[in-house]
Amino acid sequence: MNQTGVRIAGVGHYVPKRVLTNSDLEQMFDTSDEWITTRTGMKERHIAAPDEPTSDVALGAARAALANAGLEPSAIGCIIVATVTPDYAFPATACIVGAKLGIQGVPGFDMEIACSGFIYGLTVASSMIRTGVFKRILLIGAEELSRLVNYDDRNTAVLFGDGAGAVVLEAAERDSYLGSELGADGTNPTDLYLPVGGTGALPITAEDIAAKRNTITMNGREVFRFAVTKMIAATTHALDSAGLTPNDITWVIPHQANKRIIEAAAKRLDIGPERVIINIERYGNTSAASIPIALSETAAAGKLKDGDVLLFVGFGGGLSWGAVAWRWSANGKNGTRA
Ligand code: ACO
Repeated sequence: MNQTGVRIAGVGHYVPKRVLTNSDLEQMFDTSDEWITTRTGMKERHIAAPDEPTSDVALGAARAALANAGLEPSAIGCIIVATVTPDYAFPATACIVGAKLGIQGVPGFDMEIACSGFIYGLTVASSMIRTGVFKRILLIGAEELSRLVNYDDRNTAVLFGDGAGAVVLEAAERDSYLGSELGADGTNPTDLYLPVGGTGALPITAEDIAAKRNTITMNGREVFRFAVTKMIAATTHALDSAGLTPNDITWVIPHQANKRIIEAAAKRLDIGPERVIINIERYGNTSAASIPIALSETAAAGKLKDGDVLLFVGFGGGLSWGAVAWRWSANGKNGTRA
């Protein structure tokens, strides 16, 4: 099998119009802008309209990434959507996005690994391109976690938002993929999960719905501890596999779950805040969408230069974690294709 390189040819994002601010949340339950800001770094998040499914926000991001790459949908050979909030349990949201893009017949599948979804997706999609299976893959992280939130539970309701980010990956002579680390440990899946609705519980009942057991349930302190430890370990291992050190990183683009988690991990890795991308104040935690949204904003701001070393790192339900070291390959405006 031929071995080739892979690069990001285009990147884009989309968020729903409606904004839910900390002061809106203050009207809904006992919380404060001060508590949310100091504990999480969040100020506002975007919420999808009732008639706007995950495939629609994914479509918005996909179109933006294709436009940024200067490509038509017909150039895409495969679609991957990383999401835990698919339109339906099945079929895969990727199939629906393909139809909405007008490229029926193109293969598509979803990856469900919660907030680690984009990191896993980037590794899988890069592997398929580097081994010649596909020439171009549209990888989308798309989530509507607001649909799974119990807005009576202040412990989780403040954290999550909706949105999507996408990249067009394509075969290239110079390889952008430098190394990665993926991990998962399902010993305590209930640290961060949806108690009912799957086959791990008896069929969902009216009582479950009344008790809101069909919403995100989380052991926040445990996830916090796990997150800092695993972000450090994943970063270190991904850099090791690439023969790099934290000094070589131009930009860390981390999963946006909590500003304190990001800052604690970066400090322990001795990476200064000027090299860490944080946009959590405007989006909250958008799960698999958070890294590609942050990448898209960073590229659009003109911050990425050819040869920059990016470090994508994330963690989430599973519990799961991962990091990818990536060399930015620019080709025109916004750091991507003109
Ligand atoms: N407003 C006001 N007070 C609150 C709120 C709120 N929104 N939420 C909790 N509190 C209270 C608690 O009730 C508690 O009060 P008590 O001491 O009287 O019991 C107090 O604040 C402290 O609670 P802690 O849970 O200790 O607060 P902590 O500093 O740990 O912050 C948080 C909570 C923000 C959830 C933090 O633990 C965290 O970020 N954890 C990681 C979450 C995460 O990363 N999730 C990843 C999801 S990824 C995925 O796959 C979907």
